Amino acid sequence: MASERSHIGTSLQFDDVVTRSLEALYQTKDAARRRDGVLDALQLQSGERVLDIGTGPGFLAADMAEAVGPGGQIHCIDMSEPMLDMARRRCAGKPWVVFQPGAATDLPVGDATFDVAISVQVYEYITDVTKALFEMYRVLRPGGRAAIVSTDWDAITWHASDSARMNRVLGAFAEHCAHTALPRTLASKLRQAGFILKEPRVIPQFNPMYNPDTYSYQIARLISSFVPGRQGVTEEEARAWVEDLRQTGERGEYFFSLNQYLYLAVKPE
Ligand SMILES: C[S@@+](CC[C@H](N)C(=O)[O-])C[C@H]1O[C@@H](n2cnc3c(N)ncnc32)[C@H](O)[C@@H]1O
Repeated sequence: MASERSHIGTSLQFDDVVTRSLEALYQTKDAARRRDGVLDALQLQSGERVLDIGTGPGFLAADMAEAVGPGGQIHCIDMSEPMLDMARRRCAGKPWVVFQPGAATDLPVGDATFDVAISVQVYEYITDVTKALFEMYRVLRPGGRAAIVSTDWDAITWHASDSARMNRVLGAFAEHCAHTALPRTLASKLRQAGFILKEPRVIPQFNPMYNPDTYSYQIARLISSFVPGRQGVTEEEARAWVEDLRQTGERGEYFFSLNQYLYLAVKPE
């Protein structure tokens, strides 16, 4: 709805409206499966100290808190107050999860402080990714592990009855972040920052059906509120785009596929 849009002229703003949209997205089975993939790759140990950079609504922080237990710490950094508020509420009752406002490019924590640093779906929003990766490296202890997840937004496959409209909407949505294809250059940027790369993984988001418990259903809501007024896309066109997705689903012809990439890396001893 027009009244709910507060981010015209800029990339995605993590305000109250977007925070609630992301909470709905992160409650889907697809998002839970992504968190499981991250936790499986990280193999957190009891007592570990973890930095969660761009913690967002706090779902992963809450899961990581269970893994490290009260003898460990999950230190959550985010630039958005609405996100920090929501994450605080989600992790209430776990005092070993702590929250601090801050920027990924200037982390408000000391050198070599953490066993693990993680950042899921954050670096594509940051203009100077290399600076953020050097910061991540700085705060890890020697031998510490890093995990970064990023989406290749330029490689969405999304079936629609009007492919020209789909292209216009996705073209306008490309404005939502600074880097729409960050996974393609992350490996070299991580090496440049000093990391040793470990096993890379891909987390597919594949939805052959249209329903609220899927990644694509929820991201479509976020997209349709973001694109009006950008690159000539109107409110009406955005609404028609969502309606087409619904009808495509009703006809049993729905198809959405997108890859998210998980890079594991280690700071040398
Ligand atoms: C898409 S959400 C990701 C949330 C979470 N990491 C997850 O599990 O997917 C992006 C988050 O990164 C935060 N963020 C964006 N740019 C940032 C920056 N430069 N420094 C710190 N946080 C940032 C936003 O406020 C938002 O909470």
